[in-house]
Order: sequence, then structure tokens, then C-alpha cells
Amino acid sequence: MHDRFLKACRCEPVDRVPIWLMRQAGRFMAEYRAIRSQHDLLTMIRTPELAAEVTLQPIRAFGMDAAIIFADILPLLETLGLKLRFVSGRGPVIDNPVQTPEAVDQLHRLPVQESLQGTFEAIRLVRRELEGKAPLIGFSGAPFTLACYAIEGSTSRDYHLARQFMYQETRAWHALMDRLTDAVIAYLQAQQQAGAQALQLFDSWAGLLSPEAYRAYVLPHMQTIFASLSGVPVIHFATGNPALIPLLQEAGGDVIGLDWRCSIQETLPRIQAGRALQGNLDPAILLTSPEVIRREAQNLLRAVGERPGFIFNLGHGVLKQTPEAHVRVLIETVQQHGVVPTP
Ligand code: CP3
Repeated sequence: MHDRFLKACRCEPVDRVPIWLMRQAGRFMAEYRAIRSQHDLLTMIRTPELAAEVTLQPIRAFGMDAAIIFADILPLLETLGLKLRFVSGRGPVIDNPVQTPEAVDQLHRLPVQESLQGTFEAIRLVRRELEGKAPLIGFSGAPFTLACYAIEGSTSRDYHLARQFMYQETRAWHALMDRLTDAVIAYLQAQQQAGAQALQLFDSWAGLLSPEAYRAYVLPHMQTIFASLSGVPVIHFATGNPALIPLLQEAGGDVIGLDWRCSIQETLPRIQAGRALQGNLDPAILLTSPEVIRREAQNLLRAVGERPGFIFNLGHGVLKQTPEAHVRVLIETVQQHGVVPTP
């Protein structure tokens, strides 16, 4: 079994730096677009054979060191009774967003086993296909990022309705976060049970908060989640605000996922021993040229040096305009230059 990714998560010695890319299963691949042109996104997520196929596509094409199950963070909101649609050109839309304390009281509590069955079955299929090739990562949105969508009802530049609700309806905010926390725990535990070998929490919009707001409105819920998970490494990824890094560690996670705005050199000394790091090449670098990609990837590898516990990734998801050949250049660069000398 090729497990340098899992070893790096645990800060164990590896033969070379492992690499995978957030959003590696997706639109930058022609093979993905061919399947997607036949099915809508939610159908692909709910159909185990389709989800398994697009999960495996980047592994077959580029040989990343980990696969991530093809799913999305938002279908979990359906277990709370929210009506989710993806509208082309607009992104996700929730027809009944949660905008009052009464709406929080009326949320449903549907079992994840039934609503998200397709994802658990897809995990079983992918594990069978991948045995011996690469480990499989399961994932969930974190409660704050999920609450942003639940309250706002669509993608937003700054999620100010969610932030307003948080400050103004604090009791209802914590009730909503409690409900989301329960759902996230059930979802991640079920993915682990189905065969996910690592888990990632995406707190994509946490960087909209100050450290004080994160501590008051988010941290306790994240601590509940991390305390409820065991047996597989958990990656804690957030974007946007380097001042949150100490708080992300206080919340938990075996691996801290860094976005591209953080300086790796300044961040390394702030990561506690025993915790691995993942990141953080700017996804826009993959739009440039093979020369720039090689230079920037080598700079990042050099900056990290021989610290045990590093997983090469982008600082956020791969952009859909990325040429496939550029992904290949990046993977090959890390395969050639990410060699860790044996002590
Ligand atoms: O990493 C992977 O390859 C696994 C698949 C994955 C998807 N979404 C599939 C998807 C993962 C890990 C996600 C996470 C996700 N989804 C996040 C957190 C990560 C991040 O990027 O911050 C968020 C915020 C979402 C919510 C979401 N899903 C939005 C806002 C959109 C629409 C915007 C867009 O990019 O079009 C989606 C749709 C979505 N999820 C796509 C994919 C491949 C594009 C769907 C398509 O084919 O049209």
C-alpha cells in the first residue's frame, strides 16, 4: 500500500513529500466534463458509480498520493430540511434559508445514513478500486461555512447576513451551530465507517471572522467535532485570515490546511510539534506556464525543508480553467524534488 500521505498526516518519515489537490475531481478535467454534460451535479453525487468514477479520474491520469471522494459540502444541509439546488451560472441556491430563530427551531433531523447513502456507497466502491494505489479522503464542510450557506441561501461575497445573525441572534446561532455540529459528526463518522482513511473539514469562509469572533461563535463547536473523531487523521482547512492559525490548532486537527495567503516561512514556527501542515500553492500558479509552476513548487518545497509532516497541496481548490498539462507538471515536480533525505 502506498501510504506516504497517511504517514505525513501522522508526521512519520516518508520517502518523498505527498501531493494531492483540493477539488482535484472536477471541471478542469475533460473526462469529468464529459460525464457532467450527461448528468446534473446532485445526480452525480447521489449515484455511487458516477461519483466513484470521477473520484478515480485524477488518480488514474496524474497519480496523486490521495483521492478525495466526489461529493459536496452542501447536500448535508438537506438533512436539516433545507431545499438545495445548483443553478447553472449562479451556483448553489437554498430555497428556504434559515433567517429567524423560529426557522432554527423548525429544522429537521433526518438520519445521514438515508439522505447521503450514495456517498457512503461511493466510498465503498472507490476503496475496492484503489486498494494498494492511494488512500481515500472523506470530507465535510465545517459548521461555520455551512451556516453561511444555510442563512444566506446562496454564494455571497462576504456572508454578512450570516455574520449579522451570529452577533444579533446569538442564542439561535449557537442552536443552529449545534445542529450543524451533530450533522457533521454523523456524516464524518459514517464516511469513516464506509472506508474513508482520512477526513478533511473545509471551513472555507472562517477567515471572514476576527480571532475574537471565531473564539466566541465557532471554536467550541469545532472542538466538539474534533473530540468526536478518532482512528483516522483529520485535516482542518480554513482560508483567509492567518491570525486564526493559533485558534485552528486550539480547535483541533492532525493536519492544518493553509491557504495561499499565508507565508509558509512565517507559519512553520507557529505550528505545534506533532501537527502536520498541508498547502499552500496559489491555485492561480497552475494557470501560468511549466517554468513558473516548477519554480514556485520548488520554492515551496525549499521553504518547508525537511520538516516531517508536510503534504503538498494548493492553498484552495484547483481552478476550472487550469490546463491538465499544468497539473501534470506540478505532480511531476513534487515527485522529483520532494524527496526527503533518509537520516
Ligand atoms: O475536492 C474534490 O475534488 C471533491 C469534490 C468537492 C466538490 N465540492 C465538488 C464540486 C469538494 C471537496 C467540494 C467542497 C466544497 N463545495 C466547498 C469547500 C471547498 C472550497 O472550495 O472552499 C464549498 C464552499 C462548496 C460549495 C459549492 N459547490 C459551490 C459554491 C459550488 C458552485 C460553485 C462552482 O464552483 O461552480 C459547488 C459545486 C461543485 N462542487 C462543483 C464540484 C466539482 C462544480 C460543479 C459542476 O460540475 O458544475
